[in-house]
Amino acid sequence: MSQTTAPHHTRPTDPVDAALKARHRAMWALGDYPAVADQVIAALGPRLVRAAGVGPDDRVLDVAAGSGNASLPAAATGATVVAGDLTPDLLSTGRRAAAAAGLDLTWEEADAEALPHPDASFDVVLSCVGVMFAPHHQVAADELVRVCRPGGRVALLSWTPTGFIGRLFATLRPYVPAPPPGASPPPLWGDEAHVRALLGDRVEHVEATTEQLAVDRFATGGEFRDFFRERYGPTVAAYRGLGDDVDRVRALDEALAGLADEALTGDPATMGWEYLLLVAHRA
Ligand SMILES: C[S@@+](CC[C@H](N)C(=O)[O-])C[C@H]1O[C@@H](n2cnc3c(N)ncnc32)[C@H](O)[C@@H]1O
Repeated sequence: MSQTTAPHHTRPTDPVDAALKARHRAMWALGDYPAVADQVIAALGPRLVRAAGVGPDDRVLDVAAGSGNASLPAAATGATVVAGDLTPDLLSTGRRAAAAAGLDLTWEEADAEALPHPDASFDVVLSCVGVMFAPHHQVAADELVRVCRPGGRVALLSWTPTGFIGRLFATLRPYVPAPPPGASPPPLWGDEAHVRALLGDRVEHVEATTEQLAVDRFATGGEFRDFFRERYGPTVAAYRGLGDDVDRVRALDEALAGLADEALTGDPATMGWEYLLLVAHRA
């Protein structure tokens, strides 16, 4: 397992990687991700902040912070928070939300695979369904560990492969271009053994639990499909790629609505979206 001491932020830019990250940045700016964060998964940020035990004396880095789902509750504890993300549009939304809430955070454009921070500069490094979308898992994991001080915490909340969002990505797979060589599927970060292997013996006292987010925002599968089709970047991008192929669009429409209809139970209709919550201490 590599112990990285090189200043990653000075790493020369690989043009192929830069093009891939530009595509990811554009994808996450599609639709209206902050609406997904606010209306569907808002409970996850505070859940992660609580699990990480963030408090007023902590220097916290939120990796792939988006519009601040975890950064804002972290800052509300009195912690000093840096919120980094690949997508500047989302950071802008977060900056406005922080100002409205009277919270003071640092917002920075940053690739999870080349964090612009020295080694051991944070007490807590967290990521809420965020770092899982960086394509090179080992590179990203090495960065999380590198910027966390010895004794600090790395806290990660990730969709599982077999949970609802893991199945959403499996449903989208036939409709999107194959990932480039070397890229790994995001929901693997929801597999405890995979994450333990990524972090290796550079962490200790790993605690992992699998939990369900109760989602009651959608009464029917069709409502879920329409919301994600318009607002969630990866789904918006999948539809865009289909252009005016009406048969494929109809097939994807039916697959997404069917996925959610299968998951909806009870009255009011609710889905359980499974995630892995993992907290590790930097050795
Ligand atoms: C599902 S959103 C999660 C955002 C936020 N953490 C939340 O809980 O709402 C995934 C985020 O990962 C970001 N992202 C994707 N690839 C990234 C990378 N290589 N480095 C940094 N951020 C990345 C996207 O821009 C997006 O904001």
